[in-house]
Amino acid sequence: MCGIVGYVGPRQASDVLLGGLARLEYRGYDSAGMAIVSDGNLEVGRRIGKLVNLREAVADTPMSGNVGIGHTRWATHGKPTVENAHPHVDCSGRIAVVHNGIIENYVELRAELAANGHILLSETDTETVAHLVESYFDGDLTEAVAKTIKRLEGAYALAIVHLDEPDTIVAARADSPLIIGMGDGENIVASDIPAVLEYTREILVLEDGDIATVTAGEVRVSDVSGAPRTPETLHVEWNLDAAEKGGYDDFMLKEIHEQPRAIRETLLGRMDADGTVQLSELQMSEAQLSLVDRVFIVACGTSYHAAIIAKHLVEQWARIPVEVDVSSEFRYRDPIVDDETLVVAITQSGETTDTLAAVREARRRGAKVFAITNVVGSRVTRESDGVIYTHAGPEIGVAATKTFTAQIAALNVLALKLAQAKGTLDQDRIEALWAEISTLPDIVEAILAEEHEIESCAREYTDVVSSLFLGRGVGVPVAMEGALKLKEISYIHAEAYPAGEMKHGPIALITPEVPVVVVATQGHTYEKVVSNIQEVRARGARVIAVATHGDDEIRAHAEHVLYIPRTSEDISAIPATIPMQLLSYHIAKMRGCNVDQPRNLAKSVTVE
Ligand code: M6R
Repeated sequence: MCGIVGYVGPRQASDVLLGGLARLEYRGYDSAGMAIVSDGNLEVGRRIGKLVNLREAVADTPMSGNVGIGHTRWATHGKPTVENAHPHVDCSGRIAVVHNGIIENYVELRAELAANGHILLSETDTETVAHLVESYFDGDLTEAVAKTIKRLEGAYALAIVHLDEPDTIVAARADSPLIIGMGDGENIVASDIPAVLEYTREILVLEDGDIATVTAGEVRVSDVSGAPRTPETLHVEWNLDAAEKGGYDDFMLKEIHEQPRAIRETLLGRMDADGTVQLSELQMSEAQLSLVDRVFIVACGTSYHAAIIAKHLVEQWARIPVEVDVSSEFRYRDPIVDDETLVVAITQSGETTDTLAAVREARRRGAKVFAITNVVGSRVTRESDGVIYTHAGPEIGVAATKTFTAQIAALNVLALKLAQAKGTLDQDRIEALWAEISTLPDIVEAILAEEHEIESCAREYTDVVSSLFLGRGVGVPVAMEGALKLKEISYIHAEAYPAGEMKHGPIALITPEVPVVVVATQGHTYEKVVSNIQEVRARGARVIAVATHGDDEIRAHAEHVLYIPRTSEDISAIPATIPMQLLSYHIAKMRGCNVDQPRNLAKSVTVE
């Protein structure tokens, strides 16, 4: 995810910016740049690749000045090129902007700005902000930024400088973090705390809708109407390592907690005002989509579990048969795929060798292949016919968490789009489903708030050697993902089954030493799941049930109940996954495991 640093004070701004951006490197990025207010000029330097490239450029041609903004970009709109790197400037070259987040309505804004004579040079959403500020500037940068953000839809953290106010940075945020490190005679704007810790531990936390006018000696915060605000300040005690993890013990836990934002950003801009599901990346007209009569999904590991969830959604909503295959099997088993088949490849890293091979094989057979990935510019994006990006930000923990739920969010959109094109759901139903899907970030937030209960449940299962995970319907891939999470980070043996399969063999494994985790959310097979729970309890198993708030009956059948808010069955996969992630995480931590780097595993599996 992108990083922002802005400095105003007595030091050389370029030194502070390079140092601060280095502290944010762990977040991942593919280009870096900065703009320095230098003796009446705005100097802008941008380089693709690592920060060292920008550092070398500045060493060759120093950028001298005490006010500046810097950025590391994780590409979302447009490839990682110098033109797309931040900062972006306006037509006059007097205004520079760095931005984290996604401006949802940037296509309309670009068209409007171009019609008004502005010349935009990049493919980014961010550049529109520089030109909007230019068009609204009338002698007061804060006012121009306030007018600009009224025009923006989506998520943003912004830092902006203007040569007409050479001692000031204006910062603003909505749904993307931004803080100000308050020093003695200097202030530092940043997207994350590690960037400022070298200079100060006094942090002012901006809220959504805040606009901060930052000079060396003062930080003034107002809302969009200009009314003053007094934001929360905090004194940070964390060391750098803890700060990089946002105060969490591990990247995995931080990433679990980042899921509301990852899902929200993945869903941004996917429903037009007229009720059309937006998925232009498919580059297929509604008419072409309506002809799709077979979908094939290939993926590995956690992404494979997302694929099975997609099978449920697409079959349920769009009534199109979906086949799902593990990539390493697909490539060697002479699959029935031709130019009438829509193939979807799911891979968070975009670099998984088996999935890339499956993509090539499907295209060789004439199929159109669409990738769902989290990494702009990854190999799968270059080898597919179209790409749908998840916007989870970089995932550092080896175990996939936020990329998984972001994949499911994107797959919800794909299934709705196919249903709309096929006419298998009426418009009212599509809008009702969309309204419910849009609540997922808040639902996940509510589940995360109950973490302490999941942690205390975990405490009772730290000595387990083997476990089973059960579910029905969409609960099966959720159980599979729960089992994978537990085994990969805690090294406890975990197997997942459709609950109805227990009696065909796995029930022989049940003893009081083998706990059973059951996805028992409300749905049309709920009663069947309860019967399956009774079967395993009759054989002495301890049961942990993931169930729906308000379901008191389940307490009679389970040792532990991890409650989640009620949703319709079709969209219950994301909420039901969260307790599974936290359960695995806490069991693994209590067993002393390194959850971020489990043994024998790699983040990108680039071998066969
Ligand atoms: O990058 P991909 O989504 O293609 O990766 C697929 C698997 O290697 C990955 O999901 C793996 O199973 C993770 N360890 C899951 O946590």
